[in-house]
Amino acid sequence: MSSPSRGGVFRAETDRRLEQFAESISFDRRLYVQDIAGSIAHAQMLAAVGLVTDDECQQIVAALEEIRHEIEDGRFEFRIELEDIHMHIERSLIDRLGDIGRKLHTGRSRNDQVSTDFRLWIRDAIDRVDSRLIDLQRAFVGRCDAEADVILPAYTHLQRAQPVLAPHYWLAYCEKLQRDRQRLTDCRRRVNVCSLGTAAVAGTSLPIDRADVARRLGFDAVAANSLDVSSDRDFALESAFVLTLIAEHLSTWAEEWILWSTVEFNFIRLPQEFCTGSSIMPQKINPDVLELTRGRAARVVGNLQTLLVLLKGLPLAYNRDLQEDKPALFDSFDTVEACLEIAVPVVAGAVLNREAIDERLDRGYLDATTLMEFFIRQGMPQRTAHHLVGHLVGKATERGVRLADLPLDEFQQAHSGLDESVYEVLGVEKAVEAFVSYGSTAPSEVEKQVAHWKEKLGPSNL
Ligand code: ARG
Repeated sequence: MSSPSRGGVFRAETDRRLEQFAESISFDRRLYVQDIAGSIAHAQMLAAVGLVTDDECQQIVAALEEIRHEIEDGRFEFRIELEDIHMHIERSLIDRLGDIGRKLHTGRSRNDQVSTDFRLWIRDAIDRVDSRLIDLQRAFVGRCDAEADVILPAYTHLQRAQPVLAPHYWLAYCEKLQRDRQRLTDCRRRVNVCSLGTAAVAGTSLPIDRADVARRLGFDAVAANSLDVSSDRDFALESAFVLTLIAEHLSTWAEEWILWSTVEFNFIRLPQEFCTGSSIMPQKINPDVLELTRGRAARVVGNLQTLLVLLKGLPLAYNRDLQEDKPALFDSFDTVEACLEIAVPVVAGAVLNREAIDERLDRGYLDATTLMEFFIRQGMPQRTAHHLVGHLVGKATERGVRLADLPLDEFQQAHSGLDESVYEVLGVEKAVEAFVSYGSTAPSEVEKQVAHWKEKLGPSNL
């Protein structure tokens, strides 16, 4: 059977090798819901402007619904000679309705059709990813109350730096995921623009009503330039970028918890339901979920690269290259959704090893900054105080003790006139309490932030 896109101009049958090479039905079949929704809206608009009768429209809509059910039930036959999802549905409509079916493609082309389908699909996918991001934020916020008193070392350069409360860590991830959500929302605005009715590239001479189609499909706007729309995949590229940042954020989290779950760190126990064993080393409990999350970020980055290169240097307007956008973006959405989905129970179910964390909090001089700031409050210039505390840390390291264990005369030698009050800023608890500037880790600050997040995410399931 020859493809319906081949008109009367052809004298030769399509070579089977071309069919196999050019088909997209193997991956764009997943646009069937959107393709049928777009066609129904288009048919209804055609009836509203009198290009088909109401009766014809009703028959088209009923047949399209039937096709949808057949696809859903697995009764629909896909064949590569029909190339793509648009051709499959249209051919099936024509098989059912004859000439009435042949009217559906009035005033549109596959170029605006595929763009519309893709936009509708991405719009739904964005909404799904957004709600998974909320679930993950809730999982992090859900830990905060129970761990409000847990102090963890914060690292810079992966060296112990300053003490922070565990909820400060959890909310750091909430902030990142929130920016991801904002980017999704912003990107959705440019996705949610109706391209249908721009036809192949210059528009149509038929009296179609594009605003009517846009309204029926829930688009916020109608694309204003047919030439632009026919070539535009900015919305796909932008979504791929937003997904890449989500994947990068997840890979940071995954890496951190992989480290934390090692014997060396021993900060966290991952839920066993989400860990794997080793076939040879009986003692192993492996964090495969986290490793795969970290690894799959590579795929998402790769897909972004694919889209960037795909679009580079394409002349206006539609070029068949654009068909290659779908496998890449579908994969990014699938991958990120799957990673987010599995991250939720891992975040909710992991247990901090409080004792192991506490035992080692005294190492690493996490209170050195607060001691330095104590000297600054005494009137000492910051650079001098920095130098002085470095010197004291050196002394303590030599003796193998904490700063709080140094005798008062050590402090007095370093800075005359000091009294016992210096000990009030030493120790991780004191240090944590001292970090009170906005956005810092003091319990008073973190409490406010937790309350803010609880309110933002709503009361459910926290
Ligand atoms: N399968 C095609 C794609 O995904 C549909 C549009 C084809 N348009 C065309 N004029 N050949 O891009």
